[in-house]
Amino acid sequence: MKVIIVGSGGREYSIARALSGEEKVKKIYFAPGNGATEDISQKIENIDIKDFEKLASFAKQNCVDLTIVGPEAPLVNGIVDVFKSHRLTIFGPSANAARLEGSKVYMKNFLKKYKIPTAKYVESDNKDELYSFIDTLPSPIVVKADGLCGGKGVIIAKTHDEAKEAVDGMLSGDSFGEAGKKVIVEEFLDGFELSLFAICDGEDFKLLPAAQDHKRLKDGDEGPNTGGMGAYAPTPLVNEDIYEQVRQNVIKPTLKGMREEGCPFEGVLFIGLMVVNGEAKVLEYNVRFGDPECEILMPLIKSSVYDLFYKGATKDLDSLDIEIDDRYGVCVVAASRHYPYKSSVPAEIVMDKVVHKDLEDNAHIVYAGVDKEDDKLFATGGRVLLAVGLGNSIKEARDRAYLMMGQIHFEGKQYRNDIAYQALR
Ligand code: AMP
Ligand code: GLY
Repeated sequence: MKVIIVGSGGREYSIARALSGEEKVKKIYFAPGNGATEDISQKIENIDIKDFEKLASFAKQNCVDLTIVGPEAPLVNGIVDVFKSHRLTIFGPSANAARLEGSKVYMKNFLKKYKIPTAKYVESDNKDELYSFIDTLPSPIVVKADGLCGGKGVIIAKTHDEAKEAVDGMLSGDSFGEAGKKVIVEEFLDGFELSLFAICDGEDFKLLPAAQDHKRLKDGDEGPNTGGMGAYAPTPLVNEDIYEQVRQNVIKPTLKGMREEGCPFEGVLFIGLMVVNGEAKVLEYNVRFGDPECEILMPLIKSSVYDLFYKGATKDLDSLDIEIDDRYGVCVVAASRHYPYKSSVPAEIVMDKVVHKDLEDNAHIVYAGVDKEDDKLFATGGRVLLAVGLGNSIKEARDRAYLMMGQIHFEGKQYRNDIAYQALR
């Protein structure tokens, strides 16, 4: 089988790594990949990944069996629609289905229509309407821009005045341009947050182990928000009752609702969940894997990852049993010196020569923001790489991830020391 992976980060590297371990996967192409993906794949040269028609021609000419899309932007921009119009097999949602991530207003109205539990809200482009709703809520108050804002479009306002200021900034276009022209004000949910991932084929789904991300830069959840500094799975904070609530009250009505809306959901449904007093409520949907959550879920899938994605793309999940490793996974992100504020000077990545014996089968590195020059790897992106550890307990997995992290060196390397603390305290 031949596969194209679209994307260039750790998420896409980890998918390629999982596929490259499968006998039936003979060739992986990357569009565009990073400096380390060429070790396990071939870069598609001279095609802009925004040019979906050219990518589709490449897939046809090279008899590619399956295309997997990592990031949200190409999905929201219709890569799946273009590939399907050429009768190519691609795993991901159509542009219409990707509105679940592309527009928070669409997502909230969808949740309301299909009675899926979520925070109470008002959406509007009218300041007075938003202000009136703010006045009915206790603080803190959540204000969200409608469109894609690279993870920055959510403001948790401590006071009513701050919430109103956030609304003004968004509506005027000052804060987020077009993405803020419609605004959501919603109640603050006080609970614990989980990331859940369902592989969907429009009708059926496979739910993967619940993960927890660490969005802040610094230990103890301090410092600025980032794309995610580490993750672990499965988290002991979730139990069968929560999984069942998610299956029955969230995923099933979502798949049914999307069919009724005329845009069946195929691809990864990423459910950002808040559990409030034992009740699971949807904070947001994304239409792709989380990064870094993907990097620990991939090594925990024991059955074929190719089959999972292929059957997801061909409405055949019903016929598939998946097997999940009973171990735990922890991944820790190493970021560059100035992340997330600005770019840093490229720094050579050097590994200890001797890999600790305990790490050989229980840990690995996932590469993200790296470039290769003269056979040397350089840290060039914000999130540079991840140390992944597996173990029979979260503690064992975490110790291995940190042992691995200690064997990797580059100037300015920064990482959190407390990944998975919620599970270990
Ligand atoms: P979102 O992009 O909607 O997931 O929001 C980003 C982050 O803001 C989430 O991961 C939560 O930590 C927080 N957040 C969003 N909505 C709420 C809410 N209604 N109550 C509490 N926290 C929220
Ligand atoms: N780790 C969160 C995200 O990918 O959006």
